[in-house]
Order: sequence, then structure tokens, then C-alpha cells
Amino acid sequence: MRQIAALEVRLCLLGRAVISDHEDGSAGDADYGKIGGSYSRFRQPEPAIEKRIWAALGDARTVLNIGAGAGSYEPIDRDVVAVEPSASMREQRAPSRTPAIDASAEDLPFADKQFDASMATFTVHQWRDMLRGLDEMRRVTRGPVVILTCDPDALDHFWLHEYALEVTEAESARYPKIATIAEALGGAEIQHVPIPFNCRDGFNEAYYGRPEQLLVAEARLACSGWSFVPPAAVAHFVSELTRDLSSGEWDRRYGHFRRQAEFDGPLRLIVAS
Ligand SMILES: C[S@@+](CC[C@H](N)C(=O)[O-])C[C@H]1O[C@@H](n2cnc3c(N)ncnc32)[C@H](O)[C@@H]1O
Repeated sequence: MRQIAALEVRLCLLGRAVISDHEDGSAGDADYGKIGGSYSRFRQPEPAIEKRIWAALGDARTVLNIGAGAGSYEPIDRDVVAVEPSASMREQRAPSRTPAIDASAEDLPFADKQFDASMATFTVHQWRDMLRGLDEMRRVTRGPVVILTCDPDALDHFWLHEYALEVTEAESARYPKIATIAEALGGAEIQHVPIPFNCRDGFNEAYYGRPEQLLVAEARLACSGWSFVPPAAVAHFVSELTRDLSSGEWDRRYGHFRRQAEFDGPLRLIVAS
């Protein structure tokens, strides 16, 4: 059963190269018109991560945020221009945020070196042509280019790999190598970003010590990797984790995560000056 599910994931990921435009304008591999509705409820900016991103932006006054979604991690004390192709995500921006422009990373409607700094959080793995998008970021930015992403080689350091192999396999096929991103930007500093226990931004690893949260269907929906996994594999995950949480098996094997203040997982900040 699991082999069939893994095969379905691979076919689904192969298909993403030929995905045509999604109905809400999503320009990446995931269809935010279908999965984005609960995004801003579960994906709030995490202050500890935000602090690092803002520090990496240095003294930039003008900042471009690409794949901006609902506006997480955008600085509030600088001039921000946001780019977001999905209508569903643009609609979730708080009224206090600048409205996002409907455009894609691969074709930025801005002049060369227009911005002091640019940023892209949890998005480069979804772009149809990441290298072109990174070239565009570099073209329109005078100073630092800041990328928050996950290291595909560190996705299996987490209990989810055992309970939902299909999800971590899908994610490791989507996330580009960190070295590829750094090289495309002409060299970069790479920081490990520790995930705090009560991380407010609900990506999968944010629940490292709170496994019950991943039993909530809407929490999973806010992590696009689950949309590449067949429903039978998701149902299998829910039943196995529910069983092991009620029998105490999960706690016997992974209970130390509940007492761990932070998790040095796959999160990386790439800063190209
Ligand atoms: C996981 S969300 C991250 C949103 C936000 N940056 C955050 O940290 O919450 C990924 C976002 O990337 C956007 N995206 C996907 N492909 C894109 C592309 N080619 N150009 C720009 N944005 C893209 C999606 O529409 C989605 O809003």
C-alpha cells in the first residue's frame, strides 16, 4: 500500500512541471485556490524567525517580498512592496499590509536595482523556474537577498518521516539544495534557524513537540506538501499517529521532543549580500 502511495506521490510531482495556471492564479506547484483558505490562521509569523529575517535585511529602507502570501515576516517599519500570484493568498493579507501585486518571481515588473533588499520565505521550492526567479531577485535588488527555506537533506531528522514518509519524500523532492540557491545568488551566508517549541508558524516541523496538532486537517492543509499525497496515505498517517498517541507509543519513542525548547531542524536562512 505504501509503495503504491509513494509511486502516486512521484507521479504527482512529475506532473508539476507541466501544471498549467491554477484557477486563482497560483504560479507555483501548489494550488492555493484549493489549499490556501486556512493559511493565515495556521501560518502566523514566528517572532524568533522574524527577528533573524529583519536583521538580515540590514538597514534597507525599501524591501521587496516575493511569494509574499498573507504577509508573514514583512517588516513593519520599512517600505515594502509585495508580489503574490495567488488571489486566495492576496485576499488574506491584513488591511494594515500593503496590497500585493499580482506577479511572479520569474518575471518581476521592476527596474534593475530598484530595492535596497529583497526576501522570499517558504516559497522558492514552489517556483516553476527557481533559477530564473533568483536571477530576477538579484537583478532588482541593490543589497541583501534573503531566503528562508528548508534543507531537503534534513527533512528526515524528524518523527514525521516515519509516520508520513510520503510527505517527507514529496518535500525533499520539491526543496532545492541549499548550495544550489547560494550559488545562484553568487555566494551566500547560510544560517541554521532553530524552531521554538511553540512556533506560531505552522509548517510541519513547527509541531515537532506537539504531534496532536498535525491531526487537525486544516493545519495539514496549511502545509502544501500534504496536497501531493494521496488521501489514503493521509488517512493512514492519521490512524497510526492517533493509535500511537493514545497507547503512549509515540511518547515512549519521541516524548523527549515535548521537553525540547527548540529543534534544529531543516530551516535555513540564506543571506546573499
Ligand atoms: C508557503 S506560501 C509562503 C507565503 C509567505 N511567504 C509566508 O512565509 O507565509 C508560498 C507562496 O509562494 C507563492 N508562489 C508560488 N509560486 C510562485 C512564483 N512562481 N512566484 C511568486 N510566488 C509564488 C504562493 O502563491 C504562496 O503564496
